[in-house]
Amino acid sequence: MNVLGIETSCDETGVALYSTERGLLAHTLYSQIAVHREYGGVVPELASRDHVRKTLPLVQEVLDCAKLTAKDIDAVAYTAGPGLVGALMVGATISRSLALGWGVPALGVHHMEGHLLAPMLEEDRPEFPFVALLVSGGHTQLVRVDGIGEYQILGESLDDAAGEAFDKAAKMLGLPYPGGPQIARIAEDGDPKRFNFPRPMINRPGLDFSFSGLKTHTLTTVRALEAEAPLTDQDKSDIARAFEEAVVSTLVIKCRRALEQENLHRLVMAGGVSANRNLRKQLAETLGKQGSEVFYPAPQFCTDNGAMIAYAGAQRLAAGQVDGTEVQVRPRWPM
Ligand code: KG4
Ligand code: ZN
Repeated sequence: MNVLGIETSCDETGVALYSTERGLLAHTLYSQIAVHREYGGVVPELASRDHVRKTLPLVQEVLDCAKLTAKDIDAVAYTAGPGLVGALMVGATISRSLALGWGVPALGVHHMEGHLLAPMLEEDRPEFPFVALLVSGGHTQLVRVDGIGEYQILGESLDDAAGEAFDKAAKMLGLPYPGGPQIARIAEDGDPKRFNFPRPMINRPGLDFSFSGLKTHTLTTVRALEAEAPLTDQDKSDIARAFEEAVVSTLVIKCRRALEQENLHRLVMAGGVSANRNLRKQLAETLGKQGSEVFYPAPQFCTDNGAMIAYAGAQRLAAGQVDGTEVQVRPRWPM
């Protein structure tokens, strides 16, 4: 079965083709970062308009790349939420129209389920059960995964998501959107000993997160330095380093705790922040010491993409879960 996957929940238009027999056949992505950068964040109306322009040409591109035609497609999967309502509506409407025209089923996929299953696109894929750390611009969650559709939230952020915290800290340092990769880049030149930022919630039991205090601490540090003189590049790098260290060690501590609590030895990490090299390194080191394995998607499938939606849709289709014909999206949608 060949499933077309369409992702339009935020600022990337992702389209891919997944075959249940042959794996990923083609994928393509158009990022709107350049459109939103001058506004310092995603402008929902501009995002919707750009998805309208880009989605169909990208569908044609993946069909051509896989040397398939519409007749070869068995289902269309799309992101039905959570995300920006207008952006979701574009993907849902195009997907449902294609499915209706082609006479095949359409499936609305949960965006975070897509992220969670993205490591399954790799050759070295985890077996169930495992714990997943989902870290994106909108979510920070630890989830116990016993199978497709069998998800139990173990902990989540009580305020900002990890990616959102990265983006806000970057803004304070005058770095462009999206801030995560920018912080990571300048943190490489930072002095790890100059600042020690708090590790939020690590002394409390449980698996929830909170990143807003860290955000405030970053702002206070920036303001204190700026009161003396404008920030130098070294100041920015040192702050970025301390910030990244605090987020990374908080995430690592909670992951270790989640595996211990669930008595599991496999951790899957997904979502945009899982592209962070420092996080990958420290997780692998810490969990490796306790005999656990860490699985990640390939870097291009850490951030939003169509492949994860095509894959999740294929699993849902195989399980016989086809939706009705109405176009329904859920901007807020608990997993
Ligand atoms: O999963 P994603 O592409 O979109 C959402 O579903 O939100 O995640 C985007 C988030 C942004 O907040 C971005 O700053 C962050 O992931 N991000 C990173 C890195 N690459 C992307 N954060 C830290 N380090 C990175 N290397
Ligand atoms: Zn995402």
